[in-house]
Amino acid sequence: MGSQWSKDSVYKKAMKAGYRARAAYKLLEIQQRNDIIRPSDNVVDLGAAPGSWLQVLRDLTGGKVIGVDLNPIAPIGGVTTIVGDFTDPLVQERIREEAGGIVNIVVSDASPKLSGQKTYDQARAIGLGEDALAFACTLLKPGGNMVIKSFQGELFGELMAEAKKHFYSVRGYRTKASRKGSAETYIIAKNFKGRCDDAEGPV
Ligand SMILES: C[S@@+](CC[C@H](N)C(=O)[O-])C[C@H]1O[C@@H](n2cnc3c(N)ncnc32)[C@H](O)[C@@H]1O
Repeated sequence: MGSQWSKDSVYKKAMKAGYRARAAYKLLEIQQRNDIIRPSDNVVDLGAAPGSWLQVLRDLTGGKVIGVDLNPIAPIGGVTTIVGDFTDPLVQERIREEAGGIVNIVVSDASPKLSGQKTYDQARAIGLGEDALAFACTLLKPGGNMVIKSFQGELFGELMAEAKKHFYSVRGYRTKASRKGSAETYIIAKNFKGRCDDAEGPV
């Protein structure tokens, strides 16, 4: 948290409110504007550390909330956390077990460690979004919703197109809490069709 950005007004507001990161305000805005999460939904959060989205999710739903990250997440009451790579089949199995077969919402704020090389970083970030989408398609109940962190650029359209194959409603959404000049855009995908191209997903 010691970066040049850490003392901006959104960060200060988040710390004052008890959130672990300024990112909490992104999810709060996404929810306010897009009505993604319903009060009894089971939610899986991919790339969840340090846990501010989990804090918001815990307040939004009485259902299960499961967070996964490469890094450990300090405990949050009523939230299950898993340390691991969500693209790893063993970790995916663990998530499935914890969810008990019903996942209504998948949110992914996952982002790779940035190298500073814009094109390379964007490609990796989009790749992670594709992984999140592919996994969500094997987890979600029909009618479920998804949020995917992404970045505007060359490959953004491809990820949107992929999302459109699986959800009836898909749009890009930039939050006010995203940093100025950042290409960060969330893909809001609603109403999962309940079909996957591969044989393992729900039908
Ligand atoms: C921007 S942070 C998430 C912030 C979080 N939404 C919050 O509100 O606290 C991005 C996270 O994605 C995680 N991540 C990146 N690739 C991952 C992967 N393959 N599996 C699990 N977590 C991953 C990183 O470790 C990092 O903690």
